[in-house]
Amino acid sequence: MFLHEFVTRLGRWYRRQRCSLLSLPARAGGRLNCTGARPVFMVPLSCGGSGQVIFGDRVIVGYDGGARLGTGEVRLQAATGVIIRVGARTHLSNNVQVLASAGVDIGADCLIGDAVLIMDADGHALAPELRRQSAGLSAVVTIEDNVWIGSRAIILKGVTLGAGCVVGAGSVVTRSVPPRTVVAGNPARPIRTL
Ligand SMILES: CC(C)(COP(=O)(O)OP(=O)(O)OC[C@H]1O[C@@H](n2cnc3c(N)ncnc32)[C@H](O)[C@@H]1OP(=O)(O)O)[C@@H](O)C(=O)NCCC(=O)NCCS
Repeated sequence: MFLHEFVTRLGRWYRRQRCSLLSLPARAGGRLNCTGARPVFMVPLSCGGSGQVIFGDRVIVGYDGGARLGTGEVRLQAATGVIIRVGARTHLSNNVQVLASAGVDIGADCLIGDAVLIMDADGHALAPELRRQSAGLSAVVTIEDNVWIGSRAIILKGVTLGAGCVVGAGSVVTRSVPPRTVVAGNPARPIRTL
């Protein structure tokens, strides 16, 4: 029993080191800027786009015990001149994707569940004549401190998730959420306060 536990822990440690070594220089390129202690990688990180990704102290990328598709790669993509900020001790679980055209600001101590998608732009105009030429509307997404977002939720443009709030699994959040409020569903609606 002791040996099994030891081997499991050793395996976890090795995967973290390997991901850390492989993903920081090779996948994130110069676009990842860590302002504090190095992040912990349990899955690879890919920083696409030519914008900046700024990590606070001890951000955790991936989760050994969580649901995972493929390698569980976390993808953070910021357009030119745009910043994705991830606050201290925030945990991005497996397969999280953040696509930023205007800016995405994630606070400290947040838990972002597996396969959560945060996108601050529509990507296409609504009008059929313009749909292929125009990227449509975009607006900054702000996630305040200590927010928990359940698995596979989608956070759309212009949303602010207030401090301490919770987003239920699979929810589609189209409007801002007050602090300490639990929202769920599509579109997400408040179900309780904390
Ligand atoms: C949001 C959540 C925390 C709420 O839990 P809870 O407070 O115990 O809520 P309840 O189960 O009492 O549900 C309250 C109501 O909200 C609805 N509801 C709860 N979660 C929902 C969800 N994810 N989507 C849609 N509706 C939801 C319930 O159907 C219920 O509706 P009703 O009153 O009409 O019957 C939980 O449902 C959830 O989604 N957890 C996320 C789990 C997860 O993703 N974990 C991954 C680890 S990061």
